[in-house]
Amino acid sequence: MNVEILVLTNGSTSLEWTMRSLDNQTVKRPVRVMKDMQVIDAMRAFISECETDYFVKVDDDFHLHPYAIEFLEWLLDLIPQSSLYVCNLWEPWARRFRRGIKVYQLEDLKNIPLRAKPGTGRIDRNYLNDLVEQNKKVVIDHSTVGIHSLREEEDRKKYTKLWGRRWRGSSWMKGTPIREKFTQEQQYNMLEEIPYHNTKSRFGDFIEQKHMPKTIKANMDNRTPWVMHLWKDFKRVQKSIATLDFSDLKIDISTVSGKQASRLWFKCLQSSAEISKVMEMLAGADVVLEIGLGWGATHFLLSKVAHEVISIDKKFSNLVLCSYIMKKVHKLDNSQFVTGDSTDVKTVEAVKKILGDRQLDAVYIDANHRYEYVMKDHDLYAPLVRDGGMVFFHDYVHEPGVHKAVDEIEKSHRDMRVIVGKGKLGTAWYVK
Ligand SMILES: C[S@@+](CC[C@H](N)C(=O)[O-])C[C@H]1O[C@@H](n2cnc3c(N)ncnc32)[C@H](O)[C@@H]1O
Repeated sequence: MNVEILVLTNGSTSLEWTMRSLDNQTVKRPVRVMKDMQVIDAMRAFISECETDYFVKVDDDFHLHPYAIEFLEWLLDLIPQSSLYVCNLWEPWARRFRRGIKVYQLEDLKNIPLRAKPGTGRIDRNYLNDLVEQNKKVVIDHSTVGIHSLREEEDRKKYTKLWGRRWRGSSWMKGTPIREKFTQEQQYNMLEEIPYHNTKSRFGDFIEQKHMPKTIKANMDNRTPWVMHLWKDFKRVQKSIATLDFSDLKIDISTVSGKQASRLWFKCLQSSAEISKVMEMLAGADVVLEIGLGWGATHFLLSKVAHEVISIDKKFSNLVLCSYIMKKVHKLDNSQFVTGDSTDVKTVEAVKKILGDRQLDAVYIDANHRYEYVMKDHDLYAPLVRDGGMVFFHDYVHEPGVHKAVDEIEKSHRDMRVIVGKGKLGTAWYVK
């Protein structure tokens, strides 16, 4: 879903950096700048001109990450037909995340009259209340897609004046401690290092807020729509990729070298020697099932050696993050994802539906490591593996639950073997 971009400005010096961040977007979309207007007037004028179904409102003190617009458009496709989408911005000067950037559905804006807050011209709070009142869907996602920069003092004074508020003692300033000052350039350069999201402040917190409940529950079918953290800690990720040894994998490793490595965005939860061995054994497999996706490192490797990979995870956010990376970053489309508890019959049914009349070449069990769960995963999914296919159990060495389950399963599968690499996680496997 393509969007247009509306930039509102009162001529602040930070506009130059906002525009620069828009120029650097991975997708180019029409940008319309409206100057020295009250928000409500600018919005009304823009609504009558906008040609796309959705548009993004950008203030002149936002610096957007190069993937921001692409990510917001992807969010629209992921959770379609919502009236408003809100994502976070990072404020380095206050060291906090703020709900900031909004994507509006044009149709609703045309039908619901905008109401400005007296004295400020601000419309968002009233608009949100009106949407909820009318049972419209609102998506608040905690992904941090840019920086809300601190402007120069002169700019800030001009800004508050424009909104008819007094500079001194305004609640806008009182509630926003300025801990450190940065130049616009410094703030712009922080885009690459937006801090990893504070996972404690999850979307669930907002469900409790009075103006939210219906919309979110209706929208996301009761799953926590804490969709993804697009920009994790790049350096940490790069480091874990660097320690992976892909050399003996019979796969094209060009996608995981150099610049590309930083775009993988997953933390590898694997010991390289072990996982390399597993990948070698699975090279050329037709369809493989992984139980427990995590951040998707093994899923990615499987997708390079097998024709099709299905992964299950109970965490919706993991699936969303991985599906985004697979499709948008790696341009791979041989992934299938199933969300739910692996031991739930509905999850098994979902896997069977994907398989149709096919059988699995292998199952890789790596979800809940407690004994009962490993046993259940084995009982439910091993029957889906073809004769001569393989069953793997990750973390055999250091997870007592897995150890106990595998030892028990070994009684009926005497050819059980274990691969142990440097990390001593241990992968047990047998041929069915
Ligand atoms: C150790 S991680 C998986 C790592 C992944 N296989 C890899 O190598 O990158 C375990 C994952 O299993 C998921 N999980 C745990 N219990 C589960 C269950 N009962 N059903 C589905 N997923 C589960 C967790 O959410 C977590 O993401």
